[in-house]
This record gives sequence, C-alpha cells and structure tokens, in this order.
Amino acid sequence: MGLGVFGSFLFLTLFFKHLACQQQPNTDGFFVSEFLKKMGLSSTYSHSYYNFSDSSFCSWHGVSCDAEKEHVVALMASGIGLSGPIPDTTIGKLSKLQTLDLSNNKITVLPSDFWSLTSLKSLNLSFNRISGSLPNNIGNFGSLEILDLSNNNLSEEIPEAISSLVRLRVLKLSQNRFQQSITSAILKCQSLVSIDLSSNQLNGTLPDGFGASFPNLKSLNLAGNTIHGRDSDFSGLNSITTLNVSGNSFQGSAMGAFQGSLEVIDLSRNQFQGHISQVVEVSTSKTGKHGHAKCHFVAIDIFNGKKLEDIVPSSHNCDVPHVNRTDYQLIDISEDGFVSLLTDNGNTKDDLRLPTDDALLSQIKDGFAEGKDLVVSVMSSMGEEQICALKDIGPKN
Ligand SMILES: *[C@@H]1O[C@H](CO)[C@@H](O)[C@H](O)[C@H]1NC(C)=O
Ligand SMILES: *[C@@H]1O[C@H](CO)[C@@H](O)[C@H](O)[C@H]1NC(C)=O
Ligand SMILES: *[C@@H]1O[C@H](CO)[C@@H](O)[C@H](O)[C@H]1NC(C)=O
Ligand SMILES: *[C@@H]1O[C@H](CO)[C@@H](O)[C@H](O)[C@H]1NC(C)=O
Ligand SMILES: *[C@@H]1O[C@H](CO)[C@@H](O)[C@H](O)[C@H]1NC(C)=O
Ligand SMILES: *[C@@H]1O[C@H](CO)[C@@H](O)[C@H](O)[C@H]1NC(C)=O
Repeated sequence: MGLGVFGSFLFLTLFFKHLACQQQPNTDGFFVSEFLKKMGLSSTYSHSYYNFSDSSFCSWHGVSCDAEKEHVVALMASGIGLSGPIPDTTIGKLSKLQTLDLSNNKITVLPSDFWSLTSLKSLNLSFNRISGSLPNNIGNFGSLEILDLSNNNLSEEIPEAISSLVRLRVLKLSQNRFQQSITSAILKCQSLVSIDLSSNQLNGTLPDGFGASFPNLKSLNLAGNTIHGRDSDFSGLNSITTLNVSGNSFQGSAMGAFQGSLEVIDLSRNQFQGHISQVVEVSTSKTGKHGHAKCHFVAIDIFNGKKLEDIVPSSHNCDVPHVNRTDYQLIDISEDGFVSLLTDNGNTKDDLRLPTDDALLSQIKDGFAEGKDLVVSVMSSMGEEQICALKDIGPKN
C-alpha cells in the first residue's frame, strides 16, 4: 500500500513535470499555454482545441504563426470560457502578435504588459467585462487597423492618445460607459471607415471640423448618447452611407444632415427641423408608454435612387414631406447673396439665396471664385427651397 501511494505520487510528479516542461519557458507556446490555463479555459475546449503536451503550438486551434513557426502572429480565442483578469507574462509577451480576438469571454482586467503588443493590427475584446478607463497606452498601438472594445464596462473619457491610431479603419466602442465629450484627438484618425460610439454616456459637442476629418467614413453611429450636435457636423463626410445619431440632442435642419451617398439615416429622437427626400412609404408605430408615436419614412433619394430611412416622433414635423431634389448649374452669385441658376430648359432661376451652412457656403463661394463649373442640388418641400449640396464639376475651359 505504501508503495502504491509512493507509486502514484511518483507518477503524478512525472506526469505534471512532463506537462509543465512541454512548452519551453519564454517561448510563444509557453505564453499562450500559460494564458489559457490561468484564464480557466473551459474543459470542453481544452481537450479538443489545445494539446498542451504537443510542442508544435502553431497547430493549436486559433493560433497562427510566422513562417519560422517561432512566433504567434494571430490568436483567435472567442467564446471559449476565459474569465477574470489576464495575468502578466502571458499574451502580453507575444511580441509579433498582429491579430487578437478574445471576444465573448468574461475577461475583467487587461495585464500591464498588454500595451507592449505594438505589432497589433486587429484587436477584438468585445463582449467581455472589462471595467475602468481605457489608458493612454492605447497610443502604443500605432499599427492598429481594427479596434473593437464594444460591450464592456469601460468608463471615463475616450483617451487623447487615440490620435496615434492613424491607420485605424474600424473603431467600435459601443455599449460601454464612456463619458464626457468626444476628444478632438479623434480627428487625427483620418483613415476611419466605420465609427460606432453608440450607447455610451458621451455628451458635449462634437469637435470642430468633425465631418471634414473623415473623408473615407462610410458608417457613423453615435446613437444613444447625449451629444449636442448640429447638422453642420456632418458636412465633409463625403463617403457616408449609414448615419445614425438617434437619441441625442442634435439640432439644425434635417436636410443639412443629408450627404451625397447616404443609404440609411436615423435622425430620430433629436431636435432636427425639416424634411427628407421624396417619401414612398410612411408607417406610423403605436405610441410608446412615455414617448410619441413614431413615423418611419422610407424614401428614395431623387439624386441617386437610393433608399433612405428616417424615424421621427409624429408630434414633431411629421407632415408627409414631399421633397424634390433638382440639380442646377450655378451661373452667378449676386452681391446680396442670391444665386443665379441654369434650368433644364435654358432659363435662369434667380430666387434662391446662398445656403446658410458655413462649410457649404464657403465651398460654393471658393469654387465660384476659382472659376470652377459648379452644379448645386436644390431640395424643395412645402414651398421652401434650399441649396443642400454641391457637385464640383471641374475647372472652366
Ligand atoms: C498531444 O500531443 C502529444 C505529443 O505530440 C501526443 O503524443 C498526444 O497523442 C496528443 N494528444 C491528443 C489528444 O491529441
Ligand atoms: C468582434 O467579435 C464579435 C463577437 O465575436 C463580432 O461580432 C464582431 O464582428 C467582431 N468585431 C469586428 C470589428 O470584427
Ligand atoms: C462597471 O464598472 C464600475 C466601476 O467603473 C463598477 O463599479 C461596476 O461594478 C462595474 N460593473 C460590472 C458589471 O462589472
Ligand atoms: C458631461 O457629463 C459629465 C458627467 O458624466 C458632467 O460632469 C459634465 O458636466 C457633462 N458636460 C456637459 C457639457 O454636459
Ligand atoms: C440606430 O441606433 C439605435 C441604437 O443603437 C438603434 O436602435 C436603431 O435601430 C438604429 N437605427 C437604424 C436605422 O439602424
Ligand atoms: C416636384 O416636382 C414636380 C415635377 O417637377 C412638381 O409637379 C411638384 O409640384 C414638385 N413638388 C414640390 C413639393 O415642389
């Protein structure tokens, strides 16, 4: 019996020694296995996905290595039951890591050596339980192209060091508790194609020159904050197709929010005035417990035939807006602020004023002064007419 106990002790010692020695310390395989073991990897996955006694860690589930099979370049470990704080000297030491997906786990805290992962191009930590502020160390990630920290418990301000993320294309910080106004540092991230800051506690105004800073931006979602914006914040968003600012305190003309290539627009629950494109369908939803009935517009943009959607409270400017949008060539600008436009049948139309939107106004004035051939889009609705966009045709011959 004594021998039996000794025997199993010896066996266990050898077994654990064998296991522990499989990954050489200070190799990427060691760091990944330490990470998975210490984060309570659920047993469903530990057997089928990861064989810690197999030294060729590059063949583990979700692990991709460089050509020399020495360094991990991608670790995809979404939804495998990892929970709690990430310890130091685990993934923070994967010096060549470019892609990290730890979404859908129960991670609470990032390790202090996390911020040395300076090769990261794509980071997805969404659907975890990470609390506290996002430190300025995020600025270390100058190669980052995709950052998804949505659905966590992050608070305080969006850090100014975000300005270092000049290659960032996708920024998703939705469903957190970010506060204060959006830092003007974000204007430096001019590669952004998609911004989702929805469902936070952001307030204040948008930084000056917001729209003009994002010429490539296709999708902007600021819904569910308390941002005091204006229609003019959107001018310069030349690539925008989806705009959602629902549930904020945006003011100004709804028409002013329209940019060339929009496909979906949600301006609901704000303080916009005015109407949208030619409406082909209006449905009214039931009145909510506290709110007003909502009108859901599906409209076709006369300019490009694209579908537009808008939802506004029915108590607020919810007349059926029949809007025409017409393009005219600009012939002249008079001293008193009226424009002269060339109509289809060769007549002139001289009853419109220059637009009030500053950005649009200066574009038109500057273009005209430079002798360019300019075409303006005019929206008309309910007896009101307004120049709402500029199409730049090029220099005069
Ligand atoms: C794990 O890897 C070791 C060493 O390569 C191998 O002997 C063993 O069969 C593997 N286990 C499983 C379950 O694949
Ligand atoms: C991040 O992961 C979540 C959940 O796996 C996924 O839905 C989301 O699309 C990912 N984010 C990005 C930007 O790819
Ligand atoms: C979210 O973070 C706050 C502190 O910033 C903390 O008090 C709270 O318990 C956290 N909530 C969850 C669900 O982790
Ligand atoms: C924004 O919210 C914070 C609290 O989250 C508050 O202290 C601050 O005064 C607010 N700022 C504005 C401009 O409303
Ligand atoms: C805009 O965002 C809100 C909040 O996230 C969402 O409920 C709504 O469906 C979105 N609107 C559109 C048109 O996608
Ligand atoms: C829109 O244009 C059509 C055709 O030019 C015209 O009959 C109609 O009255 C216009 N509607 C508005 C609201 O200006």
